[in-house]
Amino acid sequence: EREKEQMEKSQAKRRIVLAPIPGQGHVTPFMQLGKSLSLKGFSITVAQGQFNQVNPSQDFPEFQFVTLPESLPGSEFERLGPMKFLLKYNNTNEASFKDCIAQLLMQHGNDIACIIYDEFMYSCEAAAREFKIPCAIFTTTSAIDYVSCYIFSKLNLEKFSSDIEDPELKEKVVENLYPLRYKHLLPTGLGPLEPVMELRREIVNKRTASAFIVNTSSCLENSSLSWLQQELKIPVYPLGPVHISASAPSSLLKEDRSCIEWLNKQKPRSVIYISMGSFYHMETKEVLEMAWGLSNSNQPFLWVIRSGSIVNSFPDELSKMVSERGYIVKWAPQIEVLAHPSVGGFWSHCGWNSTLESIAEGVPMICRPFQDEQKLNAAYIESVWSVGIQLEGEVERGQVERAVKRLIVDEEGACMRERALVLKEKVKASVRDGGSSYNALDELIKYLETD
Ligand code: UDX
Repeated sequence: EREKEQMEKSQAKRRIVLAPIPGQGHVTPFMQLGKSLSLKGFSITVAQGQFNQVNPSQDFPEFQFVTLPESLPGSEFERLGPMKFLLKYNNTNEASFKDCIAQLLMQHGNDIACIIYDEFMYSCEAAAREFKIPCAIFTTTSAIDYVSCYIFSKLNLEKFSSDIEDPELKEKVVENLYPLRYKHLLPTGLGPLEPVMELRREIVNKRTASAFIVNTSSCLENSSLSWLQQELKIPVYPLGPVHISASAPSSLLKEDRSCIEWLNKQKPRSVIYISMGSFYHMETKEVLEMAWGLSNSNQPFLWVIRSGSIVNSFPDELSKMVSERGYIVKWAPQIEVLAHPSVGGFWSHCGWNSTLESIAEGVPMICRPFQDEQKLNAAYIESVWSVGIQLEGEVERGQVERAVKRLIVDEEGACMRERALVLKEKVKASVRDGGSSYNALDELIKYLETD
């Protein structure tokens, strides 16, 4: 019996094609998942568009990289905005991706076990159908985000847009899905609603994937995972956080490591680390209020300000304001920063990767979400895991100063840190041998090995 199993395994197809979308928050978990699967003996091909490409040469010598020939240039992202860009990206890539798979099949003698694509790269399903290759979705955001997109995609947009004006409905919790409230279903910060709805309907309604992989742990999002398992009717594999299981350097920007030397000189747990992710842009006024609040808090701070991320321009007075206690970099080695003993808190936009990275290091957070799914992550951080506080409304220096003190100096912050350390242990245990995420990865491997 065992021999038969071994035989079947050795005959099983061993190549996985990964299809991420070209954003830092998506590419990173994809490469980490790729590493995990490669450690389990799979060969990995990464199919990527023309911009924001991962650098294959140094870090992933064992992977194959292919570029989709007809894919869109990065300038289209700026021109169209994220929703219209993604719709067009899929339209353009459908034929390109089919060509790419046809070539890979010739090259590798039909040895493709599965296409694993980002939920936003739904056009990959056409190639999977045509060549009869199994395909699986990998959602790099939270489970609750997919749940919320799913529910939204089934709504009558016009009716919901008017119903949600009712303040009671706004705050009402969606049944069994606390902290998801009806107000969270209405996308914010993503531009006009019609393209958002069009994109979500494409993602949800045309889905033919036979498995759903999600970068979360059941110790974080049990209720959403149960909901997904019931609703999607395909196996759901919560195998995250993938960055703990397999490190895969995939920074699209150059990391400035000088900040680690600066951190080495600071007192334990004294520093507030600030980063708003890979594509948010800030207004000058907001940046200056932040800088005033940070300076007035008297705590040291490390601030990531990406090149060009301040609308208008970098205010001259900023350098002077931060020079005493602060340190600014254009891009940091974030996981290393969060793991540094000097860091006492993380002021974040609550992108899902940043959220998971902070939890995995037991760092409490100040939440300043900008877009809808980040708001959901922030609701989890504040009201479910109780490891952070939210900054709401317009940023104002007094409010910033208080938030930093609450987190770093006050007893309240110490309690949050304790809870964050407990959560860290739970999450780490879930990816260790026998934990829920470890088992989910094992189950996924079995699924990939079944023809
Ligand atoms: C986007 C969306 O904004 C986010 O809400 C969604 O969950 C994923 O896609 P992004 O804004 O880039 O992502 O945020 P996030 O998910 O937090 O990912 C940022 C990544 O960049 C993290 O892995 C973080 O470690 C890394 N990073 C950030 C750095 O390596 N250095 C930095 O200085 C800042």
